[in-house]
Amino acid sequence: MTRIPGLLDTEAIRKDFPLLDRQVHEGKKVVYLDNAATSQKPRQVLDALNAYYERHNANVHRGVHVLAEEATELYEGARDKVAAFINAPSRDEVIFTKNASESLNLVANMLGWADEPYRVDHETEIVITEMEHHSNIVPWQLLSQRTGAKLKWFGLTDDGRLDLSNIDEVITDRTKVVSFTLVSNLLGTINPVETIIRRAQEVGALVVIDASQAAPHMVLDVQALQADFVAFTGHKMCGPTGIGVLWGRQELLEDLPPFLGGGEMIETVSMHSSTYAPAPHKFEAGTPPIAQAVGLGAAVDYLSAIGMDKIAAHEHAITEYAVKRLLEVPDLRFIGPSTTEDRGATISFTLGDIHPHDVGQVLDEQGIAVRVGHHCARPVCLRYGIPATTRASFYLYSTPAEVDALVEGLEYVRNFFG
Ligand code: ALA
Repeated sequence: MTRIPGLLDTEAIRKDFPLLDRQVHEGKKVVYLDNAATSQKPRQVLDALNAYYERHNANVHRGVHVLAEEATELYEGARDKVAAFINAPSRDEVIFTKNASESLNLVANMLGWADEPYRVDHETEIVITEMEHHSNIVPWQLLSQRTGAKLKWFGLTDDGRLDLSNIDEVITDRTKVVSFTLVSNLLGTINPVETIIRRAQEVGALVVIDASQAAPHMVLDVQALQADFVAFTGHKMCGPTGIGVLWGRQELLEDLPPFLGGGEMIETVSMHSSTYAPAPHKFEAGTPPIAQAVGLGAAVDYLSAIGMDKIAAHEHAITEYAVKRLLEVPDLRFIGPSTTEDRGATISFTLGDIHPHDVGQVLDEQGIAVRVGHHCARPVCLRYGIPATTRASFYLYSTPAEVDALVEGLEYVRNFFG
């Protein structure tokens, strides 16, 4: 067995994840390398979801009965856990959404409806990057179309990093908001946040960070980051689907208008007008994803007990090993950095001229689950002149043996297609 320093005790960790024991295609143990799409769930999260529904289920913030109080405590307790996990100065800065896409749409819409000094209009500019997930492109395109604001972006270098050589021309005095991903979901690149934030702050632009591929994998400290908004999703970090987070600076959340209207987000309503509840409730219209938040709270407990620094070290070690092994595969082209510096545990590649969908299918027949396609980041594929990539992505339970299985699987794919 390959011994690599820095690895977690995956034998123990994997016992917490029932799905990792699954067999597929007649007795092949699943090798799950699609963690950038969604992570598997530990028993602790599944138990918390079950316990919630079996013992405490009720609507929150409404009832006077004991179940409603328990449900409210659990839901608001999850907010406390998430706030601590990201080192938020206040729990009221943590808004629960459905997913990171909803979080990013929420910010874009708040800014579109906002008054000065936050208002995005035809005299202002929005800056994103060419490596964004569609969820951090389309909301800004919609905002730009609605307001007339100009949409600009940073391009990519040949080795899958942001080209910041023209940073002063891209971020200018007209820039109102700069929104970018901390870690690319396709390339695996970890972006130089400080450099971008420094320039955004020079011109007084708001900074939005898509941390969907960062929150599950590294220490995420919103105070150290110094952004204005940070979005991420629960299902990639051992939590259930249907729960996302938007963290925002308190004074902004106080000033900005709500996006969705309805129950829970108001203070008073008459037939003529309404006043709104303070944040975070102002941004949580309707019955929220209560069980999902409770599940995310359990996920945060689970990850924190292991330690995000240890998880990051584990993934770094696995990624180093994977890059080294994949470099041995003939005809394999990395799409993204082929070094391990400033890169996360997601590796995209092409294999000769074999279509990634064929690569994925033949790997699947061997029990190896990877994602193929444009990964909801089609501009990246366009930039590198490819229709799609094969993507392997690792997590705290990934092992060197799984990397070996991938490399062997790719050899098999090459032989299969001659
Ligand atoms: N955003 C997810 C991915 O990159 C679904 O696969």
